[in-house]
Amino acid sequence: MRIFVLSGAGISAESGLGTFRDPDGTGIWSRFDPMKLATPEAFARDPETVQAFYNARRQNLLAAEPNAAHAALARLETELERRGGELVLVTQNIDDLHERAGSRRVLHMHGELLKARCMRCAEVTAWTGDLGTRDACPACGQRGGLRPHVVWFGEMPFGMDQIFAALAGADLFVAIGTSGSVYPAAGFVAEARASGIRTCEINLDPSDNAGLFDEHLYGPASASVPAWVDRLLADPRLAKAAPTG
Ligand code: OAD
Repeated sequence: MRIFVLSGAGISAESGLGTFRDPDGTGIWSRFDPMKLATPEAFARDPETVQAFYNARRQNLLAAEPNAAHAALARLETELERRGGELVLVTQNIDDLHERAGSRRVLHMHGELLKARCMRCAEVTAWTGDLGTRDACPACGQRGGLRPHVVWFGEMPFGMDQIFAALAGADLFVAIGTSGSVYPAAGFVAEARASGIRTCEINLDPSDNAGLFDEHLYGPASASVPAWVDRLLADPRLAKAAPTG
């Protein structure tokens, strides 16, 4: 069985990282204006403010820990592979909590907060400290060209060809902790449906495109994702281990 999981900010909420849109108005984009912080134009206009925003988020991330939902997906990856299947994990999250929980193959379609990219030489470098507007690129040595390796509004997400190919070959599409309001990720469920793939949403509450899912599991991810993984792995169609050696 080939399972395609799309994760969003909700899976990291219980690790203490904020979500973007919350009905109670506490989401990141209720408190900060994305047009002033998450666009190439904003960065060109005021790089200090944009770097400060991402520096604060990077510090929060370094203090956070993966939760039981991240751990359950790492377990699912291992178990599926052991049984001859595959998990394709695509995340909109720029945190590294999937990796820290043990997931080995994660496609970060919106980039990664713990990396910097040089706009002069295009090199991507691991970056855990604050990023400054005058820092030198470790690869080319030029100053003033480093930016967070994240996708901003108006930019193309990473890995789209790979993502659509994986989606077409999946048996099950599962969206976890995403509001379904930011494209192209919000369109994956319709794509999956059009290919006849079963769809499931795991979220705190119904997402914007809840009507496109065949199955809905509502509740905090730290409880609902492990419960879903347990149920899936107990499915007799998955129970048989693939022959080894
Ligand atoms: P959102 O903040 O839009 O949505 C988070 C979803 O998670 C909501 O539907 C919540 O109900 C749900 N949620 C909150 N807490 C949860 C919990 N404990 N368990 C399960 N679900 C929970 O986040 P995304 O959909 O990921 O892009 O946002 C998509 C993109 O919008 C982000 O990648 C970011 C943002 O602008 C860029 O910055 C380019």
